[in-house]
Amino acid sequence: MARRAVPRFEAVKLTRYKHACHAMFHAPNEDKLFGRIPVRHTVLMQMRFDGRLGFPGGFVDLEEGLEAGLNRELEEEMGLDVRICGITEEDWAATEVHDEQNFVSHFYIKKITLDQIRQIETAATTAKDHGLESLGLVRVPVYTLPRDKAGGLPAFLSNTFIGTAREELLMGLEQEGILSHAEIQKALKASGARRQ
Ligand code: GTP
Ligand code: MN
Ligand code: MN
Ligand code: MN
Ligand code: MN
Ligand code: MN
Repeated sequence: MARRAVPRFEAVKLTRYKHACHAMFHAPNEDKLFGRIPVRHTVLMQMRFDGRLGFPGGFVDLEEGLEAGLNRELEEEMGLDVRICGITEEDWAATEVHDEQNFVSHFYIKKITLDQIRQIETAATTAKDHGLESLGLVRVPVYTLPRDKAGGLPAFLSNTFIGTAREELLMGLEQEGILSHAEIQKALKASGARRQ
């Protein structure tokens, strides 16, 4: 699947392509699992209707605008209060063009507070598309369990992901300083480094 990274301003000129926008919300988390394993950080993904993991978001019209379209999808799929946690152009992280599929995917990352994550999770079950397009938000375990060194992020990474969501997750973890490059490589190795 050939794809190329382009800046946002170039991508919006691709009027003959279908565009989709998805977003990663994340927050630092000081909780300790079992009272001793640091949770470190909370990252939100969703279980999709097709059984694959992805980020909330969806197809947008260039006329409505990338971020306005994304906020509409986030409201539909997770009941996001866009006045509080809405996505803006400043949250843009990456755009990839898939020429063979006539498809452009835009990825956004937004750091919020753990309280805001909890509010989003509470509202999510009342969203219009809950139980339909979205089967629920999930928190990504970013830690690796010390006991078997495979539980946590390595096991999570061996799930099936939609499109390039898995790569976006890894990029987000590194770019936001949630995990180091070395920690990510280690988790990939422990996951069996299954590509899809
Ligand atoms: P409909 O309203 O049914 O059209 O769904 P939607 O608008 O919510 O679209 P969806 O979220 O399924 O995203 C549109 C397309 O983008 C999908 O067909 C996937 O190919 C791709 N996609 C979905 N989730 C992600 C994601 O997290 N990352 C990336 N890169 N692509 C995704
Ligand atoms: Mn228990
Ligand atoms: Mn969607
Ligand atoms: Mn949708
Ligand atoms: Mn849609
Ligand atoms: Mn829809």
